[in-house]
Amino acid sequence: MCGIVGIVSKKNVVEKIYSSLTRLEYRGYDSAGIAVVAGGIDRRRVEGKLSNLHAELKKKPLKGTVGIGHTRWATHGLPVTKNAHPHSTKRVSVVHNGIIENFSELRHELERKGYKFTSQTDTEVIPILITYYLDEGEKPFKAFQKTLGRLEGAFAIGAIFADDPKLLMAARKGSPLAIGYGKDEMYLASDAIALAPLSQKISYLEDDDYAKISINSCEIFDKSGKKVERIVKNSGISGGAVEKGHFKHFMLKEIHEQPTTIAETLTAYYDPVHHKINLPKAKFDITKTRRINIVACGTSYYSGMIGKYWIEQLAGIPVEVDIASEFRYRKPVFERGGLTLLISQSGETADTLAALKHAKENKQHIVSIVNVQQSSIARESDIIIPTLAGPEIGVASTKAFSAQLTCFAVLAIALAKNPPGLLQQLVDTPSIIAEVLHNDCYEEIADILAKAQSVIYIGRGTSYPIALEGALKLKEISYIHAEGIGAGELKHGPIALIDKKVPVVVIAPGDEYFTKTASNVREVAARGGKVILISDKKGCKDLKDVTYRAIEMPNVPSFITPLVYSVPEQLLAYYTALAKGADIDQPRNLAKSVTVE
Ligand code: AGP
Repeated sequence: MCGIVGIVSKKNVVEKIYSSLTRLEYRGYDSAGIAVVAGGIDRRRVEGKLSNLHAELKKKPLKGTVGIGHTRWATHGLPVTKNAHPHSTKRVSVVHNGIIENFSELRHELERKGYKFTSQTDTEVIPILITYYLDEGEKPFKAFQKTLGRLEGAFAIGAIFADDPKLLMAARKGSPLAIGYGKDEMYLASDAIALAPLSQKISYLEDDDYAKISINSCEIFDKSGKKVERIVKNSGISGGAVEKGHFKHFMLKEIHEQPTTIAETLTAYYDPVHHKINLPKAKFDITKTRRINIVACGTSYYSGMIGKYWIEQLAGIPVEVDIASEFRYRKPVFERGGLTLLISQSGETADTLAALKHAKENKQHIVSIVNVQQSSIARESDIIIPTLAGPEIGVASTKAFSAQLTCFAVLAIALAKNPPGLLQQLVDTPSIIAEVLHNDCYEEIADILAKAQSVIYIGRGTSYPIALEGALKLKEISYIHAEGIGAGELKHGPIALIDKKVPVVVIAPGDEYFTKTASNVREVAARGGKVILISDKKGCKDLKDVTYRAIEMPNVPSFITPLVYSVPEQLLAYYTALAKGADIDQPRNLAKSVTVE
C-alpha cells in the first residue's frame, strides 16, 4: 500500500514524478504529495486523489532536480493534508510505504530531545530522526544509515536532503522498491509499472538493502553495510500495458482481456504436442505431494477454494484452504515435507507473506501462484506458478482471478497425471468467454441491482466460491451490501433476509448440482425474492416461471464453469457500480496491494 517515487536528474523532475505517481495510484489514494530540493526543502501536499495534487501544482508550481512523491493509503492518522507524505523537516524530506512499529517510542525519545511533530503518522519519526543525526554533525548518507538501524517494522523509504541536491537515498525492508536506470537520470519507485515510460532497466532492492542514488549511479549496500550488486533486468513492461485504451475503466479493460490472459497463462504450461501439462521444475516432486495447504486473501482465496475442489476431485489429494490472516493463529498441524501453496496477484500481501513465512518455519515446501514475478512472495517460494495476466490496475481483481483459476486447473490436471479431455476444455475456454463478454443483458440487470440495498449470491459445488467472489466484486466497487452463500446453506438462516426487495443472483450451471440448486431457487421465489439466474439454455427454461431476469450462458462442461461463470458476475458488478456513479477503479477505503497486516 502507498506508492512512492523518487527521481534525481539534471532537469526539473516534478512532472515526471507526478506522472509516475498516476501509475501507482492503485496502491492508495487517500492523499498525495511531492517534495523537491530547491534551495531548501519545498513540498506540495493535498488530501484525496492525485488530481487534487495536479490542481495544487498548477496553483503553486514546484521545481527541482531531485524529488520524491507519494500516494497514500492511510494506516496511522486520518487521510488529511497534515498526515500526507512527504514528511519533512528543514533538512530532509521522506516518503514511506509500510509501518514503523516502534514509532511511538522513537517519537517520545525525539520529543524529549526537543523535536516537534506535526502529524499523527508513524512516518514522521523518520525525517526527524535523520534530522537529529544531521544536527549531531553526520553527513546525509550516515544520518540515513544510522536512522535505518533504529527502525523496526516493514518499510520502503525514499529521502532527499536540503544540503545535497544531487542525492536520493532509498531503503527497503519488507516493502518492494525498484531502481530505474535512465540517461543522466535515475529513478526509484514502489514497482516497475510506475517507471514503465521512463525506463525498462530495473533492479530490485532486496530486504534490508539501502541505496545511494545520484544522476548517473546507484550504489547498493546490504544490511551489514557491504556494497552489493543487484541484477539490472529488463522489466518488459511497456508504458501501454498500464493505459486504459478505449475502455472507460481499467476494470472493464481487464475483464475484456481475459480470453487473452487465460490463453497466455495456459500456453505457459500446456504442451500441445504431447497434450499434457508441464509444471515448472522443482527440487522436489510436486506430484508426490500427500497434502496441501492453500492460503490467500480476498479474491485469491476464492480461487484457492476452487483449487481445492479441483485438486481433491481430480487428484484425490486432501487440501485445506485458509484465509491468510487467520492461518497462523489457528496453529495448523503441518505434515513433514508437506506443501503450502500461496496465491497472490500482487505477491506483496502482508498476511499471505506472513503465512508463507510461518509455513517455511514449519519446513513446508512453498509453492506460489503469483502475478508479479519479482514480488516478495515469489522470491520466498521454492516454485512459482506464474499467472500471465499482465499488470492488473483496477482494484477489483478480474483477469488475475481467471489466470489463478487457469493455474489451478493445470496444477490439478498435472497432479491427476493428465486425465483425458480436461485439457481440451481449458483450451476452449477463451473463446467461450469471448462469447459471454458479448451478451448485451448486463447493463439492464445492473440497473436492478443498483437499486437494491442488499444482494445475495448463491451457488453449489465450485459455483459456491463463485457466489462468494460475485458478492465481493459487487460490494467492493458498488458499496452495496452483498453476501455469497452456499445454496444449500440458505435455509439454515440467511433465507430470513429474503423479501421482494432482495435480488438473489443464482449461479446455476447445468452440472450435477443443478437440480438441487433449482429447488433452492424455488424456495427463494416462494418468499418473493427476485431471482437473477445465471444458467445455460436448459436451466433458464426449467426455471423460467420463477426467474425475474436470466443471463443465458453457453453450454459448458462442469470443469470450466468457474472460469466462465465468473465473467457475468464481474460485468454485473462493473455496470452496477457504473449506474451508481461509483469510483470503479479506485473504490473507497481500498488499495490494490495490501502490505499491512
Ligand atoms: C479483489 O477484488 C480484492 N481487491 C482483494 O480481495 C484481493 O484479491 C486481496 O487483497 C488479495 O490480494 P493479492 O491477490 O494481491 O494477494
